[in-house]
Amino acid sequence: MSRVFPEGFVWGAATASYQIEGAVAEDGRGPSIWDTFSRVPGAVLDGHTGDLAADHYRRMPSDVAIMRDLGLEAYRFSIAWPRIQPSGSGPAVRAGLDFYSRLVDELLAAGIDPVATLYHWDLPQALEDAGGWMNRETAYRFGDYAAIMAGELGDRISMWTTLNEPWCSAFLGYTSGGHAPGRTEGGASLAAVHHLNLAHGLAARAVRGVLGDQAPVSVTLNLHVTRADSAADVEAKARIDRIANEVFLQPMLEGSYPEQLVAETAHLTDWSFVHDGDLETISVPLTVLGVNYYSTGRVRAGTPLVQPEPGTPAPDGHRAGSASPWLGCDDIEWLKQPGPYTEMGWNIDPQGMTDLLVELHERYPDQPLMITENGAAFDDTVAADGRIHDERRVDYLARHLEAVGVAMDAGVDVRGYLLWSLMDNYEWAYGYHRRFGIIRVDYDTLERTWKDSAYWYREVVRTSQLPPVAAAAGLA
Ligand code: FCB
Repeated sequence: MSRVFPEGFVWGAATASYQIEGAVAEDGRGPSIWDTFSRVPGAVLDGHTGDLAADHYRRMPSDVAIMRDLGLEAYRFSIAWPRIQPSGSGPAVRAGLDFYSRLVDELLAAGIDPVATLYHWDLPQALEDAGGWMNRETAYRFGDYAAIMAGELGDRISMWTTLNEPWCSAFLGYTSGGHAPGRTEGGASLAAVHHLNLAHGLAARAVRGVLGDQAPVSVTLNLHVTRADSAADVEAKARIDRIANEVFLQPMLEGSYPEQLVAETAHLTDWSFVHDGDLETISVPLTVLGVNYYSTGRVRAGTPLVQPEPGTPAPDGHRAGSASPWLGCDDIEWLKQPGPYTEMGWNIDPQGMTDLLVELHERYPDQPLMITENGAAFDDTVAADGRIHDERRVDYLARHLEAVGVAMDAGVDVRGYLLWSLMDNYEWAYGYHRRFGIIRVDYDTLERTWKDSAYWYREVVRTSQLPPVAAAAGLA
């Protein structure tokens, strides 16, 4: 019998502002760090920028119509902070507020719950010029901006998400330099980690300050699932877990930083950026914890890390910057995981999804979880009949949904699944060279085409069951 998901399990899809909107200079939007970074020679494959992206800013109503036709119950989008406050502080721009207000109204009219992420990496450039996430002030500005959005969109939002993947913002943005703003600050970049944590707490409190204590608030983390073989490797894995996962999870859910992490990074920073009261601010109750999951990694102890050439794929799958994002882990080697792989070079390991969910549940049994991203990039081709037979993507989605189901059988409280991504989009340092959508975007005509995975997912949403993968090509 095919797997059945429980009544009330939420089915949706996700995108992010810079990846789909385009219209970067329209209606008073200020520049973001990705506008700047994408213009640095060599930073992004083929120098692609988000100037046009999927042109969603202009096509929003028809994109929402696609979501309605898919039957989506929820849509996770992000708000471009520089559309609201072009320089990251001061009064809000009416046109920017109106865009998201109209989006939310369109969604509600289509019966789709809006899930709003306040920060998916497009920091106003003016804030970066003042130090960016290395500057504590940025966290306070983020709290102000969150209050503006809560006031504007109010109770029309089903779930507020403060940050998307602060690991990437901090460690790719300020440690490795592979993502905007492209800085390599070494141990000092742990300040960016802390200021992002603080920003999360301030924003969550700002939203609840405006909308009340019951306002639904979450954060989305990309927790790393790392495997290890020998006992020495297990110790290496534990260090990776601390610097990549615990450094966010523990302050947010338990109100402390791991003592061992503070000790093992003492040669890199004195942690004086943590002020009295910060951890209390950061540890707000979360309505759900957002989990993004794609693949797994494997480490070996005692072998010097070979930093890949800038611009080539790093072990975490993103394009390598000029430094390692793994602070203090220079003696740990990343091994290539067995395949198959997606176009990102990420290994396909659905068991990692189950393991992660079960582990989170064992540790935080009362914390509901939500899959806020999961999906796969493949080199899609358009067949002679005009269809996109992306059976590998369907297979990936089916396996990972099954893995979520297995975790739920084991008692894990998963509230929903938001597929990455609704449509092809700007995949950061890979530009338009990676396609994650279930809807194809033709970047010449901007035409949208349903892939087989879209027809298949529509069936999933309609029935709350997993149709056979082989059926996908026959659905339309
Ligand atoms: C995640 C990001 C998302 C997208 C996917 C593939 O790290 O949150 O924007 O790029 O990876």
